[in-house]
Amino acid sequence: MKRLYFILAFTVFGINAFGQKTNDQKASELLSKMTLEEKIGQLVQYSGFEYATGPQNSNSANVLNEIKQGKVGSMLNVAGAQETRKFQELALKSRLKIPLLFGQDVIHGYRTTFPINLGQAASWDLKLIEKSERIAATEASAYGIHWTFAPMVDIARDPRWGRVMEGSGEDTYLGTQIGLARIKGFQGKGLGNLDAIMACAKHFAAYGAAVGGRDYNSVDMSLRQLYETYLPPFKAAAEAGVATFMNSFNDINGIPATANQYILRDLLKGKWNYNGFVVSDWGSIGEMVPHGYAKDNKEAAEKAIIAGSDMDMESRAYMAELPNLVKEGKVDPKLIDDAARRILIKKFEMGLFDDPYRFSDEKRQKEQLNNLENRKFGREFGSKSIVLLKNEKNILPLSRSAKTIALIGPFGKETSANHGFWSVAFKDDNLRIVTQFDGIKNQLDKSATLLYAKGANIDDQDRSMFAEAVETAKKADVVIMTLGEGHDMSGEAKSRSNIRFSGVQEDLLKEIAKTGKPIVLMINAGRPLVFDWAADNIPTIVYTWWLGTEAGNSIADVLFGTVNPGGKLPMTFPRTEGQIPVYYNHYNTGRPAKNNTDRNYVSAYIDLDNDPKFPFGYGLSYTQFKYSDMDLSSINLTGNQTLNISVNVTNTGNYDGEEVVQLYIRDLVGKVVRPVKELKGFQKVFIKKGETKTVTFILTPESLKFYDDELNYDWEGGEFDIMIGTDSQNVQTKRINWKK
Ligand code: NOJ
Repeated sequence: MKRLYFILAFTVFGINAFGQKTNDQKASELLSKMTLEEKIGQLVQYSGFEYATGPQNSNSANVLNEIKQGKVGSMLNVAGAQETRKFQELALKSRLKIPLLFGQDVIHGYRTTFPINLGQAASWDLKLIEKSERIAATEASAYGIHWTFAPMVDIARDPRWGRVMEGSGEDTYLGTQIGLARIKGFQGKGLGNLDAIMACAKHFAAYGAAVGGRDYNSVDMSLRQLYETYLPPFKAAAEAGVATFMNSFNDINGIPATANQYILRDLLKGKWNYNGFVVSDWGSIGEMVPHGYAKDNKEAAEKAIIAGSDMDMESRAYMAELPNLVKEGKVDPKLIDDAARRILIKKFEMGLFDDPYRFSDEKRQKEQLNNLENRKFGREFGSKSIVLLKNEKNILPLSRSAKTIALIGPFGKETSANHGFWSVAFKDDNLRIVTQFDGIKNQLDKSATLLYAKGANIDDQDRSMFAEAVETAKKADVVIMTLGEGHDMSGEAKSRSNIRFSGVQEDLLKEIAKTGKPIVLMINAGRPLVFDWAADNIPTIVYTWWLGTEAGNSIADVLFGTVNPGGKLPMTFPRTEGQIPVYYNHYNTGRPAKNNTDRNYVSAYIDLDNDPKFPFGYGLSYTQFKYSDMDLSSINLTGNQTLNISVNVTNTGNYDGEEVVQLYIRDLVGKVVRPVKELKGFQKVFIKKGETKTVTFILTPESLKFYDDELNYDWEGGEFDIMIGTDSQNVQTKRINWKK
């Protein structure tokens, strides 16, 4: 088969069969044979018909015909060895036999699902994150997928925004490191390998800053803020060779990102010299009409291609409008050539001209169907993403021989919900999920009893199950309450104004608390929730996000202490919605409050403390860690010297455990104001009980750089606070002077 396509490629394109030409040359040769329509065809992407991840308008008969005519470059939402093969066969009926690219949202795992991305970020474990994407790529590529629309590297400071579940939280440094780990995981040893899929840095740009946390909303911010907070993960992704970028839906300062020449043409393809291609978001070219930026699809297509959006996902604007726009002289044909070339180069890099079916392999697909090794990893990853928020009475870890445990709440026996929002590779595949009930039951001693009561639905006002839940709690020695928000209450188009437990779950919790039984509260959510009553009244709280295929086992591993939790919050948890946006690296203001009671003519609310409920970087362990002997190599530095920072961390408790040691700095005076803290490094270390480890960091002037109001990126000499600690609030500080 492979040989056949080799020969085919040879005869059709006349290219060197021994691969001596660069992919760029091959693309040029191919382009020289293409009609304008065929070139534009490469810029078109449609969704398959079985399911949609956006407002679908596909007419399937037309799409299939267009593929045969060479008018389609890529499909999304077509997956599976057989299905992708069928579509590819159609593409190979076209005049030039240019294969299709198959894209899909492989966001937190594929056949094996992993914790939602925000949960993964809570592991602060770059190796685990990279490995999870390696596995996702291996599974997805075996299902014929060439390209994932991930990682989402949008920084987000507003938990009302449903898509915080898909990102790495509020911090630019952490988000950048995680984005890079994901790209490495997806693209593996390089495109062209059978288990490597193209990654996509999305959504370019500033999607995470949508006003009010309402999805698809506008973004209005200074360029300085854009450069400092939102662009670095994208810049790093471009430098790391991410294969593609995706536009964001929002406008940035009045110009929709999809037609934003400044960020696409000048910055990404200009200054950053990016040579991959840019796909629009679903319908985002056509959406420039309701945005009020184009009077019709024709003008939208013109603006998008000129700005640098190479591929049209589901707007159906490019194929319909670009041929005329070129003929009328409104769009330079060189722009079409450039966009088509970028896409063709990726197809060459993926080896699709050698064998268009190389990813559609049923044998490989079978091996990845329910891969036990991958599940084993998922179990570990799930447990490492859990964050222990409170354990005041040391109820956790639970004893396996506890006589009677009651699991109460609407999530205890949920199946597919545990996959989380982005689980596109599943239909009715509930059997593969380990429920919370089963996970706990499997680890309890035979002599112990596990009771269950649902107590409430996820999101309605029905209190009729309360009485049974209270009776169940009364029979138990310890109650595990499993509460939160539905798995489909975060994700795309799932913004919430009220980010508390949905429905009557909080009332259920209060009823159960009245029984006086010890309660372990487990919170399932795709965002930081507000749960002030629970946080003040329930002494034991674990945050479990949505953990994927192995959710029940991961949870039980933590509850019974097989795994000592070490996750840390990647986003600040607000006290109430009225405190949003609240994030750790804010500015000091001219009137900073000294403490929570200081409210007189200071920057504070008269009715709310300033500090959050749980700070960024926060998370407990079953053991305790003591920080001591923070040491700096010097407190007076000059120019390009390096600063060595070390601290001793001692495990003073009764369990071995992992700690994420965090390094923050503050630049005390700048030509633009600097945040009160900025994360500049972190290390996750395993420390045995009784053991001390010395953790060291190296800081260079590179870490002191920032964008000034003219967008110069540099550092200034002066005083800096160097802070090391277990979270963003709990730090030890030393001051240094660093002369330029
Ligand atoms: C819209 C989402 O914003 C984007 O992230 C996703 O990749 C596409 N739909 C395709 O499903």
